[in-house]
Amino acid sequence: MKIAIGCDHGGFQLKEEVKKHLSQKGIEFEDFGTYSEESCDYPDIAACVGEKVVAKEFELGILICGTGIGIGIAANKIPGVRAALCSDTFSAHATRQHNNANILTMGQRVVGPGLALDIVDTFLNSSFEGDRHQRRIDKISAIENKYKK
Ligand code: RB5
Repeated sequence: MKIAIGCDHGGFQLKEEVKKHLSQKGIEFEDFGTYSEESCDYPDIAACVGEKVVAKEFELGILICGTGIGIGIAANKIPGVRAALCSDTFSAHATRQHNNANILTMGQRVVGPGLALDIVDTFLNSSFEGDRHQRRIDKISAIENKYKK
């Protein structure tokens, strides 16, 4: 499994924790920035990671900002991205099973590092259940197609 990871300045410290954790588990990843706590704009990173995931260069993505909200809103503008903000492990599990979420977003100012790493593990170890959930994902794609220019 190959993971694309990114953050803005508000998520930098947690991204470093997540990277350390993935390395310890032997999970391959690529870091698309940002690379310091200097202020930057989360849509730039969201677009970069989102595009890589939709292009199937990476199986899943992880995006972190201060709240996890802005970076997720931006990523979800890319057709094919299903970014889910998770601050608990139940949601991380459910969003893979039901929504086939392909990007996990988290807020560094919301979750502590211990919980965040449990959320990452849960997200990466859960899988899509298909069936009736696929029908609903297809309807999400239909909405995307309807508004595509
Ligand atoms: C940056 O200050 C902050 O706005 C950003 O990290 C994020 O929380 C936005 O949703």
